[in-house]
Amino acid sequence: MARPDRLPPYLFSAIDAAKNAARAAGRPIVDLGVGDPDLPTPRPLVEALAAAVADPAGHRYPAQRGAEILRSAVADFMGKRYGVTVDPATEVLVLIGSKEGLGHLPLTCVEEGDNVLVPDLGYPVYGQATILAGGEPRPFKLREERGFLPEAAELSDLADERTRLLFLNYPNNPTGAVAEADHWRAWARVAQERNLVMVNDAAYLEVTLDGSRPASMLAAVDHRADRVVELHSFSKLFNMTGWRIAFAVGHADVVGALGRVKESMDSGVFTPIQEVAAKALGPDFDDLRAGVMAPYARRREMIVPALEEVGFEVFPSRATFYVWARVPVGETSTDFCARALAECDLVVTPGTGFGTGGEGWFRISLTAADEDVATAAERFRGWR
Ligand SMILES: Cc1ncc(COP(=O)(O)O)c(C=O)c1O
Repeated sequence: MARPDRLPPYLFSAIDAAKNAARAAGRPIVDLGVGDPDLPTPRPLVEALAAAVADPAGHRYPAQRGAEILRSAVADFMGKRYGVTVDPATEVLVLIGSKEGLGHLPLTCVEEGDNVLVPDLGYPVYGQATILAGGEPRPFKLREERGFLPEAAELSDLADERTRLLFLNYPNNPTGAVAEADHWRAWARVAQERNLVMVNDAAYLEVTLDGSRPASMLAAVDHRADRVVELHSFSKLFNMTGWRIAFAVGHADVVGALGRVKESMDSGVFTPIQEVAAKALGPDFDDLRAGVMAPYARRREMIVPALEEVGFEVFPSRATFYVWARVPVGETSTDFCARALAECDLVVTPGTGFGTGGEGWFRISLTAADEDVATAAERFRGWR
């Protein structure tokens, strides 16, 4: 079977079709489905891009591994923010969004017949990229009773001599779970023993709603001793999903291999965008970030009390801009989400969209206007 034919079906297509039909019928749909920030990129960054675009030097092919200015800014940022030393020349790689990096990582090490450990529930790209590289995704469950964090022993049991990669994602989409240093160290021991590469998809690392200061996986695990890599993204952090800019940091061999794959696939990120990204990581980082996060904290306060008032159980989290809640007893995730749309004109995402481990849960994204979130809260208050 050709590899694209091995990909699983797109799980949101039924919901998308129902949403579009409801919209076309003129119903007042409130969409809390997709995790795509509603607000614009902070103005200083937009203005910096306008200025950078005017310089013709940036109109040519970008530097393949990323502009020197951005790789240096990343190294400075990793040091100041997380206390992690990285070499900008060999341990940093600029990506066209973290999805691109995740998508290409299996090509660095997966052969036909190899396998990759992927979270169930999780962002579907880990498994899809594995399949496209010829590998077999081996899902491990994230369970609520363990705070949606896998047990090291379970990962070790699942791995064998053909396991090449372990994908993790903390702070976690969709649950909002956060991993601590001890978790990272335990998982890194498994990666060492099983001789596989551990990847943290850190797209939400800086998306915290209580102002807390997150820790990089690399602060707990030494990327010079262990084959680990972390993918950071500007998308959710600075309302920059459309810009397509992210970076990988970690073990030089892993970063180097990913760079070699990319050399055959793409020609990097538009240089002015990289210059703006470098600026975003500079002295204004905290102010810019605080401005982006403030609305999410406000919106969470609007919706969570409304959900709890009518008896929904919400997973306690202050990370990511998602709310992860249980569907009412006796209902499946997809039935519940279909009913939310049919009866309340609300689009929310069924937990099963992220894997079978999401059964019994649904996800609300706080990336809609305050008025929409307030409307959704009112509609949930009337839930029967
Ligand atoms: C868990 C997770 N990782 C990665 C991405 C991709 O982000 P980007 O490619 O915009 O950096 C997303 C986007 O929704 C995500 O939810």
